[in-house]
Amino acid sequence: MSSFKLFYAFAISSIVGVMASAPLGCIPAHAQTKPDSSKMPWMNKALSPDERADVVLGQMTLDEKMQMVHGAGWGVLRAGAPVPARSNFGAGFMAGIDRLGIPDINLADSAVGIRMAAYQGRYATLLPSTLGAASSWNPDAAFLYGSVIGRELRAHGFNMSIGGGVNITRDPRNGRNFEYAGEDPLLAGTMTGMLEKGVLSEHVMNDIKHYALNDQETGRNVVNVLLDQKAMRESDLLAFEIAIAIADPSGVMCSYNLVESHYTCENDYLLNQVLKKDFKFKGFVLSDWGATHSTVNSALSGLDQDMPGDDNYFSEPLKKAVQDGQVPEARLNDMVHRILRSMFAAGVVDDPPVRAVVDPFRGRDDAQHIAEESIVLLKNSGGILPLKAAVSSIALIGSHADVGVLSGGGSAQVDPPGGNAANPQPGGSNWGEVVYFPSSPLKNIQAKSPQASVKYADGKDTAAAVQLAKASTVAIVFVNQPMYESVDAVTLSLPKNQDALVEAVASANPNTIVVLETGGPVSMPWIQHVKGVLEIWYPGIGGAQALANILFGEVNPSAKLPVTFAKDDAQLPHPVVSGLEGVPASAPSREHKVKPFDLTYTEGAKVGYKWFEATKAQPLFPFGFGLSYTTYAYSGLTVDDANRTVHFTVRNTGACEGTEIAEVYVALPSAAKENYKRLAAWQRVKLAPGQSREVTLPLHPLTLTVFNTDQNGWQLLPGDYNVTAGPSSSDTPLKATLHVYP
Ligand code: BGC
Repeated sequence: MSSFKLFYAFAISSIVGVMASAPLGCIPAHAQTKPDSSKMPWMNKALSPDERADVVLGQMTLDEKMQMVHGAGWGVLRAGAPVPARSNFGAGFMAGIDRLGIPDINLADSAVGIRMAAYQGRYATLLPSTLGAASSWNPDAAFLYGSVIGRELRAHGFNMSIGGGVNITRDPRNGRNFEYAGEDPLLAGTMTGMLEKGVLSEHVMNDIKHYALNDQETGRNVVNVLLDQKAMRESDLLAFEIAIAIADPSGVMCSYNLVESHYTCENDYLLNQVLKKDFKFKGFVLSDWGATHSTVNSALSGLDQDMPGDDNYFSEPLKKAVQDGQVPEARLNDMVHRILRSMFAAGVVDDPPVRAVVDPFRGRDDAQHIAEESIVLLKNSGGILPLKAAVSSIALIGSHADVGVLSGGGSAQVDPPGGNAANPQPGGSNWGEVVYFPSSPLKNIQAKSPQASVKYADGKDTAAAVQLAKASTVAIVFVNQPMYESVDAVTLSLPKNQDALVEAVASANPNTIVVLETGGPVSMPWIQHVKGVLEIWYPGIGGAQALANILFGEVNPSAKLPVTFAKDDAQLPHPVVSGLEGVPASAPSREHKVKPFDLTYTEGAKVGYKWFEATKAQPLFPFGFGLSYTTYAYSGLTVDDANRTVHFTVRNTGACEGTEIAEVYVALPSAAKENYKRLAAWQRVKLAPGQSREVTLPLHPLTLTVFNTDQNGWQLLPGDYNVTAGPSSSDTPLKATLHVYP
């Protein structure tokens, strides 16, 4: 009998036993038998997580250790796969050790809210996409975001989140950008780190993924990413380094792709040398689902847990490798230690989740609050926004704006309450389905302007849309770019002829506003012909309320882009997504199967705005850009060389209260071979009309250094550093010099 089957049989008997004796109303999330903890010294909370892990490890048999280093299979993710009796119906399950009081780990995909809730008839809050939340540049909003996820995971009975995507936006067409936090390592690392800290604050194990350089979906299982170590450390890996330092993650998920000819889950450089040694990561490395390709090599290269775990690498074969001495038992102990210490550190042993009914109202309020800080005002000609409540007629066109807002797909899909608002069906959402959430722009806009005639045209019939636009004072066109895991956009162009729809409406109504519901950047060939543009991303369950508040000026937009919007694909370092050569731009979204290929990131560490600066190209909208209903002035930049801080003043020069995101960039001295400008600090500054505030900000030390591969460390070069500050990466009116003395 395999260990899995054994466990399965045992689990059924144990759950039945506990259910029979549990008092009604307090069934713990994990219905495991509870041994007497007074006889378990590792339950002593006065010991550190590492000490507790060591003590319990000393009690474990080889089979018990083996049980912890792999999951119990694909379970609910794959039709026909067995589902362990104690599984909470999430993406993954690791069986705990009952006799030692070690709980199961029930893992849930939860990048933007909990996945697969419908499967169990549960409710989960859909938050704005993490890329949207990154547009708030608000670490507190990120923490709140993570705490919503942690809170709801506990209520669902999960004790580990597998979100935390921090892959930087090397390619704006990457299908998963909406699950990440943009192109800048400091911003992405900080926002993702804070989000995952929020998860952990709810005593739920947290995660950072997909480590590393999984920056496009096309060919994700076969692409061999080539990038030199210096560039890697200063770009993608820097985002991970910052996020990991903040979040103290329980797990780091290695990705599907290869880096420098080694799969990331058996990549000694990435796992042992960088992650565990240099980043001092204390948690465990778990594979992405099916990303393990070997037993001995993976174990020795730093993989600690094979997920979902039925591919036969870390069960019997690893046991045999340990018995044969190919993998030292000390290495197996290290794997298990890392898992156990993360369980103790997160609190899932001492404070396990208890099932409860999720509070949908609290979740919606939190989601709306984050959305209000995430919506970016990109264009506002002639002050078309905010709309006057007295506007007489408003045309809403396209993208199911009568019923809902768009969400992102794949393993980040959350199930909408009541089913897909655009296409209600019984059951949960399907992979690749374009799913709308019931947050109706039409209803919320009408509520803000009760006397106005607010009418909707679905946009499929351009003539009808034009007719409605002509008959209305204002036309708001909703355009969308549905994105989901495993598929990239072929181009930056909006799909399904939506550019033509915008052009047609704009030529019919001079007061046209475009609302973008996109996974990431898109091109806007019609930009000169419309008066207003709002990027609302995938705005979550409170999205329409947040949008209406912004449209009517009850909330002043404050968000700024965490990614550069290129004018077109030709401006990008890779004008065609690698692996999609020859695929026509009009091709429908689909999984593009490709043979193994190398992808050389010729742009090196110059990702996003750094690339645009190096190539002197003018983007459509630069990184860090976003408008407000008020205006701000910057003055008086000084630099404190000794403390490496900057000081300046921001003033609200307009007529309404607002929050300005003040950005500080640093360009290294010429001794740094690549002295491109880097975001080094920022601050959200809330200001009443006419009010000034002085801000003092530390420059993030890692943004001032270069990675020296000979010394395998960060190096601060002596010299003059150009410090600039202002409202966006391409508008930095304040200039000063930081002197670093040898
Ligand atoms: C995704 C991961 C996800 C896992 C489990 C994989 O396909 O890349 O992000 O956590 O599936 O659903």
